[in-house]
Amino acid sequence: MPIKMNDIPGPAPVKNLYQVYKLFSSFNNNSLGLLESYHRDYGDVVLLEVLGQPQLFIANPELFREIMVTKASSFEKDADYKDKNRGLARFLGDGILVTDGEFWKKQRKLVTPAFHINRISEYAETMVDYSEEMLSDWTSGTKVDVAEEMMKLTLRIVARTLFNTDIRANIGEIDATMQAVNESSGSNSLIPTWVPTPKELKTRKAIRDLDAYVYGLIKERRENFKDEGDLLSMLLLAEDDEGNRMSDKQLRDEAVTLFLAGHETTANTLNWTFYYLAQYPEVEAKLHEELDRVLAGRKPTLADLRQLPYTEKLVKESMRFMPAVSGVGRKAIEDVQIGNYLIEKGTSIILNFYTTHRDSRYWDEPLAFNPERFTAEKEKEQHRYAYIPFGAGARVCVGFNFAIMEANLLLATIAQDYRLVLEKGQEIIPMARITTYPKEGLPMRPEKRERLIVKEETEAVLQEA
Ligand code: HEM
Repeated sequence: MPIKMNDIPGPAPVKNLYQVYKLFSSFNNNSLGLLESYHRDYGDVVLLEVLGQPQLFIANPELFREIMVTKASSFEKDADYKDKNRGLARFLGDGILVTDGEFWKKQRKLVTPAFHINRISEYAETMVDYSEEMLSDWTSGTKVDVAEEMMKLTLRIVARTLFNTDIRANIGEIDATMQAVNESSGSNSLIPTWVPTPKELKTRKAIRDLDAYVYGLIKERRENFKDEGDLLSMLLLAEDDEGNRMSDKQLRDEAVTLFLAGHETTANTLNWTFYYLAQYPEVEAKLHEELDRVLAGRKPTLADLRQLPYTEKLVKESMRFMPAVSGVGRKAIEDVQIGNYLIEKGTSIILNFYTTHRDSRYWDEPLAFNPERFTAEKEKEQHRYAYIPFGAGARVCVGFNFAIMEANLLLATIAQDYRLVLEKGQEIIPMARITTYPKEGLPMRPEKRERLIVKEETEAVLQEA
């Protein structure tokens, strides 16, 4: 017998504004803990009614497959994405992350070629060069905020590779917007956005500044158009079936989407990778051994990645253990059965990747950080949808090849030069909003690696000789 919505277990319904406030506070304080406790206490499918609106929390790979792949047409993005007042759409307009249906399909078709594997291989050199530039500003033993460094680096990379521009002078605008996105999108506040609180005023300014920057970029490119072969040129030249080109507003929405979706995710993947490396010396030692053996101090290239399997496994494990996107939201647009559950039209759903990535039914010793679980043989045995850091189905991350290449190249470049050390007793708290980031930043001490010092000395001796 299929299970009806009323029979799905879950916490007591949230019935008044005080209870909503309490719920938002627990989500804002520790959403990952809350997701885990729902799963532990009620199971794979949990119902929470908030002021009469049903909200499901799902942590089950089979059900992920149905929602994102086989029955995806029964779902669309939920209000956390689409609501132009409180959702991501407030920032991203009608960009491909938040739209649905035919419009989304048309836009996705236009954006996808920029991420073709042949095209992104041209981006590898920029990724490594920009990382080396960042390293040239580091001093061994002097603390840096790794979270800030990764954010700037990945943003510069996305701006150069997709928009052929140097964003250094405007990093502040994008960073402020990203903070506003993480702090204010989603229904995590009871205060309506028309109330001019200091946070709201900051958000409005962030959007204005970002718009001024992106519209400026579009105007400049329209006025002096030459095909620079980057994504912006492709979008400017793209025509739909009726021969229409994109408006400035649509160009702005896609550009902002790619700026925002394309940097903070990879930055946080690297943040968590360095954080775990600092805590698992045996993993760090294996990484260094591989980098020293394969690269021997030279810059990594795209071709090197094939020879760096441990680096790749490490990035994969880091995305399992602390996925930069802990889950995604959907809304049922019709009554639909998934698994044994009858889901009613209008139900909001959070697909909880984080808990599934740590579920002992799909992973041996899930709380151990162990890159070796990603050997080719073991990967074949994994449930295909128990590991979905990039989502799945038609809405899978459009930038995932870009992101994997970038995370591996940046890790190889940085880790062959420096170890990043955490201060003893320092607590780093993950904060899951749109992305999962270290709440108070990630202060770490870069230490120049011994091997490189030895190599440089050897070279100096050889030169003298
Ligand atoms: C490690 C890094 C990344 C992670 C973990 C990640 C994760 C995700 C996930 C989970 C989704 C699916 C959202 C959903 O189903 O609702 C997504 C979509 C998307 N990602 Fe990424 N992403 C990463 C890097 C990137 C990069 C580098 C770019 C672009 C430069 C990018 C652009 C996008 C876009 C545009 C979408 C929306 C695709 C669509 O709906 O058609 N992402 N990403």
